[in-house]
Amino acid sequence: MKILAIVFTQRRKDKPASLQVTEELCRLVSERGGRDVETEIVTMSELPVLACAGCKTCFREGRCPADKADGMAELRKKVRECDALIAATPVYMCMVSGWCKNFLDRCARWCHVFELLGKPCLVLSVTSATGGERTADYLSECLEVMGAAVSARLAFQKLGEGVLIGTENAKACMENAAASLFDAIRAPEDYLSERAETQFQSLQRTYRTLETVWLLSGQKCSSEVDTFRSRGLMTCASLREALQTGEAGGKP
Ligand SMILES: Cc1cc2nc3c(=O)[nH]c(=O)nc-3n(C[C@H](O)[C@H](O)[C@H](O)COP(=O)(O)O)c2cc1C
Repeated sequence: MKILAIVFTQRRKDKPASLQVTEELCRLVSERGGRDVETEIVTMSELPVLACAGCKTCFREGRCPADKADGMAELRKKVRECDALIAATPVYMCMVSGWCKNFLDRCARWCHVFELLGKPCLVLSVTSATGGERTADYLSECLEVMGAAVSARLAFQKLGEGVLIGTENAKACMENAAASLFDAIRAPEDYLSERAETQFQSLQRTYRTLETVWLLSGQKCSSEVDTFRSRGLMTCASLREALQTGEAGGKP
């Protein structure tokens, strides 16, 4: 079983706190999973992600012209292929790092086709003092609307009153999070968010209408609608049903 951790930092000097925490979390996950589990950590030093140019080719054609220029194509492949994902970001100006935002923008299409349906995920943020909860919530929300089964979101701090790095409290939070990840691997449907379900119902209505209009007028469907249909999402009553019937999950 492959667990991928992406740390959205490119800082090379000293070891970034977000990387330290992720390494510890991966150690706990490996300990819990035993020999079956292989973890891999990637940072933005190895696979940097450039900003989205806003061309919307991904929505129309299902490809990103910028994928040739940076580490995004490889990152997409790794995310698709892993059995579970850990997404870790430092907090910059009370929000995810620019690298993380670049990644999310470049994955915007995934929210329209539920690319991460049922993918077990852990989300974590690391801050000096402020913005940790909000950042972890935001990152979690973005992954949830791609269909991910986010089992825990952790907000670590170096100072102040939250979950302080290096404390017993931090260790307990990590152990609980590692346990929750295996729960989500066993039963991802229990971790699908209501937000994703609402987004699914709304997209399904829209895409059914668009499909009819395009068919009647002899126009070609957009790549998103094609993908949505080919994953069986046009006919499922719910995202949960799509996951349970296995039609939508795990396809590129
Ligand atoms: C551009 C930038 C913005 C930051 N903004 C905040 C912030 O809003 N609140 C905060 O408490 N810390 C902030 N910090 C501090 C980082 O969150 C903190 O150093 C964290 O440990 C960075 O993670 P890293 O060690 O993995 O790089 C900021 C740091 C940088 C470089």
